[in-house]
Amino acid sequence: MNFTYATGKPEDCSVESIVFFVPEFKTLSKQLKELDRATNGSVSTLFEAEEFTGEQGQISQLMNADEYKAKRIILVGLGSQKSIDHDSYRKASGRLSRHWGLMNSQSASIYFDSVDDLTIPQAVVEGLILGAFKQLEFKTGDGAKDKNKLTSLQMCVGDRRSLKRLEKGTERGAIIAEGQVLVRTLAGTPANYLTPPMLAKEAQKLARTYGLKCKILDEKVIEKEKMGALLSVSQGSVEPPRFIILEHQGGKATQKPIVLVGKGVTFDTGGISLKNALNMHEMKGDMGGAAVVLGTMVTAARLGISQNIVGLIPSAENMPSGHATRPGDIVTSRNGKTIEVINTDAEGRLLLADGLDYANSFDPQAVFDIATLTGATLYILGYSGAPIMGNNEKLLSRLREAADNTAERVWPLPIWDDHRKQMKSPIADLTNSGGRPAGTISAGAFLENFVGDWPWAHIDIAYVDVEPSGKPYVPKGVTGFGMRLLVEALTNWKRL
Ligand code: BES
Ligand code: MN
Ligand code: ZN
Repeated sequence: MNFTYATGKPEDCSVESIVFFVPEFKTLSKQLKELDRATNGSVSTLFEAEEFTGEQGQISQLMNADEYKAKRIILVGLGSQKSIDHDSYRKASGRLSRHWGLMNSQSASIYFDSVDDLTIPQAVVEGLILGAFKQLEFKTGDGAKDKNKLTSLQMCVGDRRSLKRLEKGTERGAIIAEGQVLVRTLAGTPANYLTPPMLAKEAQKLARTYGLKCKILDEKVIEKEKMGALLSVSQGSVEPPRFIILEHQGGKATQKPIVLVGKGVTFDTGGISLKNALNMHEMKGDMGGAAVVLGTMVTAARLGISQNIVGLIPSAENMPSGHATRPGDIVTSRNGKTIEVINTDAEGRLLLADGLDYANSFDPQAVFDIATLTGATLYILGYSGAPIMGNNEKLLSRLREAADNTAERVWPLPIWDDHRKQMKSPIADLTNSGGRPAGTISAGAFLENFVGDWPWAHIDIAYVDVEPSGKPYVPKGVTGFGMRLLVEALTNWKRL
């Protein structure tokens, strides 16, 4: 999507469609009265018939208003004035992005009276781009064509002094949404098109395009690094593992970095502890954490976030074979701890163990890890939010603040000694499976063993990585959840 900017009266916008966001109303506002007059009473007719009252999700179209250059006027409901927040705009424009009248227009303008807060146009643009997301690259013929004709959009504001804010908000929204589209695209790509080496190639390509530093550790180097936990996952597959390192230098060279670690399991069969066939195909998305880290690094570079940020992605394919790790095998992680692999399907924490330990080499000021780690999240927050855990209250509350601003909800869980006990093995230092009780927390308790002397937060995005039915700006399928959250936390970052 290409954006242009204008100031002036809505009547003068020479575009095919002009869009207004309208809060729920009981009587016609000044603006609606003007529109009503210009459309020979269409607004009051729609209002009286309760077809358009400004309710969240409503969209109505007015045609051929005399004094308007635009052929159609599109009204989008924001919902009750009391509860309007950024997400009201995101949702409204998400719906708008699939509205046929707009998609079918050759030119369109979104109109604001004024812009006091640049996060409003930002949310509008995020909703528009995210709501229109479709993965078409594997379709052929007509199915591969995007029916959306609109490739350029004018952002228009009445108040001239708001223009800078409108521009800034729009640009920010577009960069963030494009980052999240990248996350969705990667997470939605099937495992035969995205193996660990292919993921590493993609990271290199993105790094070149957006000016990130990128280093790839191949199997030999991973062996030299003694990442035995990561290798125990990849050894069953013909696909070799990769360890991807991305760096964004937005701060002074002396500033300690914030490190992000993302689980990059390009396909999770469960290994010898094989998963049930029913939903196994969904495990192509088991590199969702890695995709979020990649998207966040690209977005940090494009926004010029003023922090030093390192992205680490341990990547492997979890397959059953004659070479695969057996249940009961004991493996040694990079930090020297021994792990009894009770269940080869608890592979994500093995990758993260070596990833978190590797973070030590960057002397980080804080570390986030993000992973589709445990199915048990379904019974905690469902599809509605991601459980978080960690060792630093301040860091966790930063994530909760970022969640409020981005509508990517998170909620903290404790890690208690009982959960730590669950992860002890009778014959090794640790076991990789704590059984059914508190499955999400016990995974966190396992990870804690690989955390250094730094603030750490763990985000479990299993089940929020995929939207089951479709929401206004989150079409059914991969969501990219976590990228807006991390970008927001990093944008507002202050020393802990
Ligand atoms: N990738 C899965 C977790 C998952 C499940 C993500 C469903 C999204 C949807 C992970 O590797 C896994 O299999 N975890 C096991 C751990 C158990 C064996 C201790 C789980 O959650 O069942
Ligand atoms: Mn698994
Ligand atoms: Zn997994």
